[in-house]
Amino acid sequence: VPPAQPPSGCPFEPPPHADLLERGDPHHAFGALRTEEPISKISLPDGSWAWLATRYADIRAILGDTRFSSDTTLHGYPLSGMTGGGDTKNRGFIRMDPPEHTRLRRMVTREFMVKRVEALRPEVQRLTDELCDAMERRAGEPVDLVEALALPVPSLVISLLLGVPYDDHEVFQRLTAKLLSRTIADEEREAARSELRGYLDALVTAKEQEPGDDILGRLIVEQQRTGEIDHDDVAAFAALLLIAGHETTANMIGLSALTLMQDPDSAERLRQDPTLIRGAVEELLRFHSIIRNGPRRVATTDIEIGGALIRAGEGVVVAVPSANYDDSVFADPDRLDVGRPNAQHHVAFGYGIHQCLGQALARVELQVVIATLLRRFPTLRPAVPVEEIPFRTDMAIYGCHALPVTW
Ligand code: HEM
Repeated sequence: VPPAQPPSGCPFEPPPHADLLERGDPHHAFGALRTEEPISKISLPDGSWAWLATRYADIRAILGDTRFSSDTTLHGYPLSGMTGGGDTKNRGFIRMDPPEHTRLRRMVTREFMVKRVEALRPEVQRLTDELCDAMERRAGEPVDLVEALALPVPSLVISLLLGVPYDDHEVFQRLTAKLLSRTIADEEREAARSELRGYLDALVTAKEQEPGDDILGRLIVEQQRTGEIDHDDVAAFAALLLIAGHETTANMIGLSALTLMQDPDSAERLRQDPTLIRGAVEELLRFHSIIRNGPRRVATTDIEIGGALIRAGEGVVVAVPSANYDDSVFADPDRLDVGRPNAQHHVAFGYGIHQCLGQALARVELQVVIATLLRRFPTLRPAVPVEEIPFRTDMAIYGCHALPVTW
């Protein structure tokens, strides 16, 4: 099949940020694809091509069908343009299929169950309050909300859960940023990957001597010492959970804060009625759909989806943002509606067996941080014109690199 050009205007790349904030619809051009060619072809940076799925129903069908594989080592997997690809042994269960995926994921599911995570809410609140106290002490000067709050909250929480010393946050935040960058050279990314592997190797070795009462400690005692997994597997768990556990939520916090600063009516509604916060977080997840470069799969057999025949060995890129703006599911999708009745049906956390393991945690963090910001900083506003905010158009996960605010 000859490679096809991306349809004109297809926002495979993150859109200009003005679009995102002014129209509220980062993915306008997906609309035409959804009606005209819901399963289309898209060129990838290396000149190869993959299928692009844009309809909500097709996307759920693909993510819910294990004949579409997540195994990045399979021939035909669309790795091009994806960050962090290529690592095989240490790739983590996000890039594996059953039965191995099921076996490994099961070892950590209970750590992220709603009940377990809800018990962390007071601790998340305490950390958030402390960081807000520190922000308050800097009143008058512009504060970077990403550095002061959005990044530290999820970073502190996941470090605590895993048993990774938060004092090392500069190391893992810097390396994660490199791994997720779409613009750095391959060699630089490879160097970051190997530095992170070295760091986690040493960490796991230390924990093997003295496993703590934390996720990595429990993996070592319950799974590694019983021979279920080895040292490298523990390091792969650490890498996956550490990376997935802080960048994503941090970006959602930054974008959500910015959106609510731009939309004072919604902010006021949430201040007046804090019971709306849970639904508002779902709507913000839908609205921002920060995973813009996947998920991706490769077909393991010929499968018909949305009228297209996808052949074994062909790659599929799933446009999560497009599903979340599909007006057959979400009425008036371009509008942020913090009271939207079905916002929780979004696929911002994916769908199917790989659906986000950390979603309950992300929800608690987002609910606490956003509610606290609204309450404690009612006059919060950007300290620079929106055009000057450095948006993450260069990253696999959308957000802002920095968000200078004042109040
Ligand atoms: C998987 C999004 C926060 C851990 C996923 C997937 C998405 C996603 C779309 C599916 C990937 C696929 O199908 O290939 C998000 C978003 C977050 C977030 C938008 C924040 C707003 C977190 C947090 C953790 C986490 C806080 C903490 C540990 C994971 C893991 C997987 C995953 C381990 C792989 C699950 C599997 O393959 O079975 N996430 N995530 N995520 N996420 Fe998240």
